[in-house]
Amino acid sequence: MQLPRTTPVFVFVGQKGGVGKTVTATNMAAAIAQETPTRPLRNVLVIDVDPQGNTERALGAEEGGEGSTVLTIADLLLAYRDGFSAEIPDYPLARTAVPGVTLAAGGNALDEIDDELGAAGRATVREWMKGVIELLAPQYDAIVIDTPAAIDALTMGGILSADLVICVAKPEDSFVTDALDKVDSYLLDLADQGQAPPMVMVANEAIPSRTQYKLVNEIITADEFPSLRAGTDAIGAITGKPSPWIAQIPATVHLRNGARNGEPLVIGRRSGTEAGRKLKEMAETAMTIATTRTEVAR
Ligand SMILES: Nc1ncnc2c1ncn2[C@@H]1O[C@H](COP(=O)(O)OP(=O)(O)OP(=O)(O)O)[C@@H](O)[C@H]1O
Ligand SMILES: [Mg+2]
Repeated sequence: MQLPRTTPVFVFVGQKGGVGKTVTATNMAAAIAQETPTRPLRNVLVIDVDPQGNTERALGAEEGGEGSTVLTIADLLLAYRDGFSAEIPDYPLARTAVPGVTLAAGGNALDEIDDELGAAGRATVREWMKGVIELLAPQYDAIVIDTPAAIDALTMGGILSADLVICVAKPEDSFVTDALDKVDSYLLDLADQGQAPPMVMVANEAIPSRTQYKLVNEIITADEFPSLRAGTDAIGAITGKPSPWIAQIPATVHLRNGARNGEPLVIGRRSGTEAGRKLKEMAETAMTIATTRTEVAR
């Protein structure tokens, strides 16, 4: 009998552009991978399903493309379509400048998948994504998926495989409702089929003050967005305070610089700053939620 997968899969979503999905996803991947006094380096795979390809820069990844042997997530999806499942775990993916982190980049090749959407349909593309993740999972200690500002077929495929959905938004009413717009209804559809992962929110670029923290908790509750119920309870089980918010990350130039220079804040010289600490805490909490979930599944 095949045991259920134990590699935690995290997917970062948010219907709004430029809110910090890529920055938080790449920092979380780096923080999960990072060696600490109590644990060795972990292997983390970042999958980028955004054609913009911002993760390459943020992680200082080796370049794919022409003349390179490095494959992208689009290559893996097409190989899956063509029945090369057995080979997919051996395909070369991009090394990055971040210890322990490997990248299945997005990039322009994803347009080819878009072309396929017409022929194969969204549901099929969703299944390819799920299939590829299951094939890659055994080689990694965690998988982090970065998505574009849209709940497209690949994002849905990521959500289908995820143990935790992390929705990134600025801590303002309109940003939060916009961010949750489509993902909430997709998760409720999945819940009807008994396969919805829990979802939590990240407040990014927030002012690090107590007033603001209160505000964040006032912005949204699981009563308004039922898709946040399981995540709210999971955070409550860890912290004693049920909340849909897994972290509040302050605005800081160090985060931006890190993303530009291919050195995520959490592993750089400024890792001890508030944003760095918050991101590391978020990684720990996310790992705890996901691991609890996969253990229950077993
Ligand atoms: N807390 C923060 N402090 C300072 N700069 C930030 C913070 N969060 C994100 N940024 C910066 O804001 C810009 C947008 O962030 P990012 O690329 O992560 O957003 P995104 O949601 O992935 O955008 P897209 O929808 O285009 O993929 C980047 O330049 C990033 O460095
Ligand atoms: Mg992005």
